[in-house]
Amino acid sequence: MTTESKSPHANQQPKHIAIIMDGNGRWAQKRYMPRVVGHRAGVKSVRRVVECCVKDGVEVLTLFAFSSENWRRPEAEVNLLMSLFMVSLQREINKLDKSNIRLRFIGDRSAFSESLQHKMAEGEIQTQSNTALTLVIAVNYGGRWDMCQAFNHIVDDMLSGSLEKQKITEPLVSEYLSMADLPDPDLFIRTGGEQRISNFLLWQLAYTEMYFTTTLWPDFDQNAFEDAIKSFKGRERRFGHTSEQVLNKTVTL
Ligand code: IPE
Ligand code: IPE
Ligand code: MG
Repeated sequence: MTTESKSPHANQQPKHIAIIMDGNGRWAQKRYMPRVVGHRAGVKSVRRVVECCVKDGVEVLTLFAFSSENWRRPEAEVNLLMSLFMVSLQREINKLDKSNIRLRFIGDRSAFSESLQHKMAEGEIQTQSNTALTLVIAVNYGGRWDMCQAFNHIVDDMLSGSLEKQKITEPLVSEYLSMADLPDPDLFIRTGGEQRISNFLLWQLAYTEMYFTTTLWPDFDQNAFEDAIKSFKGRERRFGHTSEQVLNKTVTL
């Protein structure tokens, strides 16, 4: 019997999954190999998880690929990550397009090379009408940066007179964030054993179910993915209500 059928108030399939793909460096170091080997193995894991999401009918998959803090790494590793990012885009965009996947990027792109920014925009335009899955890649992304850029745009609109102070509500703030048009994540997964958010989505994770695993990202396969989904389906999401309210369906969640 699965966790899903055991639970009388089992969750549906998550619509939006957000993942911190951590543990690439340790995966390589365990094999006495340079960290970049782990990052390359991590790209394979990305392909695998994207396939799992398409198969399971997940609508949005958001992957943390490079944080605003990752610039603090040794220059050689940052450069390798940038070229791996470029090569992966060149290799994958057509394949994603053929699989009907819409590609999106969130984060401050201005720090990237012209050619990388161009490739990112090209990938987004080429895949913009695809419908099987929205794949969001967070690059040079930070949750605090996202909130700051939202606040700056809110202030701009107030100063120009197009927004009144009384209109500033939670849904309005959401509209100014990077994933305004997408639902908040239902399930958050972090591989690699650390139990922290590391400045990933801050506003959007307010009611997300958290799942932490010690599995290193390059080892995160279909079974590991299914374990995370199983865990999610066995949980009761209450959004502040009582369990009875949820069970008796006297409230809409
Ligand atoms: C995650 O793996 C990938 C990036 C942050 C780009 P790490 O490189 O952080 O791997 P560990 O945590 O050092 O093992
Ligand atoms: C978080 O991983 C960022 C990405 C996976 C891209 P890190 O490995 O950089 O996180 P911390 O700094 O150890 O928390
Ligand atoms: Mg790490």
